[in-house]
Amino acid sequence: MSAITNALAAIDEIGADGDLDAGATSPLDELELDSVADPILLPDGKQIFPVKLFGEPIHEIAARLIDTRQPAASRFLRLTGPPGTGKSQLARCIAHKLWIDRGEQVIERHGNPFYGLVEMQPGPSSDEYFFRYEFVPAAERGGDVRLVDSAFVDAMRHGWLVMIDEVNTARDVCLLSINGCLDGRLALYLPATAETVIAQPGFGVILAYNPRLLAGGATDITDAWRSRFPATLEVTSNWPALAKLGAPEPLVTAAMRLDRLRMAGDDGLVWTPQYRDIESLAEMIGRVRVISRCPGAPRSPRSGSATSARPAARAAPRPGGALRGPAIRRQR
Ligand SMILES: Nc1ncnc2c1ncn2[C@@H]1O[C@H](COP(=O)(O)OP(=O)(O)O)[C@@H](O)[C@H]1O
Ligand SMILES: [Mg+2]
Repeated sequence: MSAITNALAAIDEIGADGDLDAGATSPLDELELDSVADPILLPDGKQIFPVKLFGEPIHEIAARLIDTRQPAASRFLRLTGPPGTGKSQLARCIAHKLWIDRGEQVIERHGNPFYGLVEMQPGPSSDEYFFRYEFVPAAERGGDVRLVDSAFVDAMRHGWLVMIDEVNTARDVCLLSINGCLDGRLALYLPATAETVIAQPGFGVILAYNPRLLAGGATDITDAWRSRFPATLEVTSNWPALAKLGAPEPLVTAAMRLDRLRMAGDDGLVWTPQYRDIESLAEMIGRVRVISRCPGAPRSPRSGSATSARPAARAAPRPGGALRGPAIRRQR
């Protein structure tokens, strides 16, 4: 063996340790069902399958970037990817893990389970008050409004995590208003009361957005904001999990192949179906009980139910290709 071959083998060996084996083949349509990690059951009953990185569920790695004791030491995170890849669900898994690791209990707030996460969507009409106040009608004075703390200020005071969704649609003036909270100062000035709020331990910010959201090309956040969110995770649909849940494999494989072409960027694809789209499609197929003749005929993926934590066994097609359950009878 030449010195070069030896060196290449050594590089491959080291790379394989970090899931970076250059020699490993990754066929376009191979669904690695064994790679699916155990699902996380969120308090709303939804079960989420985080993808794995270096063999670890991604939300556990991401959670380490948030220092719940010293918010100034946190490295805030941005999650990017097309709609329906699981960005919001991943943020919820991160928040839930941090909350439980802090020894906190899930409680009910505004009719929903609460585990230290508030979700905000500033949007194109947001202004410098969006992160500071909510404007509520003053019951006692018709036509007047009262200023109350925004969800963001609540999170600063109580030490919660904030997910800012579709942040690239917000106006600059809105985003600039919280610059002081995203560095070591962790401070936000409230002009109505001349108060400066300082974020408490547990506070953190996660961005979630699709950099290609708007027509006319890529849209991203400004460099100033990028440097405040140094960790980026490009979120991808967990295709093996979807197949394991019972979505028809040919459908999942086709979506996965298209998704990889989109990510490679060579085909000019700006949108391809993601986890949510294929999940819905499979669910609809299951509900209308389509009788398929192809092997691996569709069953609805069993999402959102506490009882579906165990991966489903493959449906055994009946003779003639019909699915289990009542078949649609032809009208006479
Ligand atoms: N990894 C996953 N595990 C389970 N369900 C998922 C996953 N990713 C996406 N989904 C499904 O897709 C839906 C959309 O996910 P969501 O996090 O809202 O996507 P995004 O925020 O990227 O638009 C979820 O409600 C869930 O049904
Ligand atoms: Mg979302």
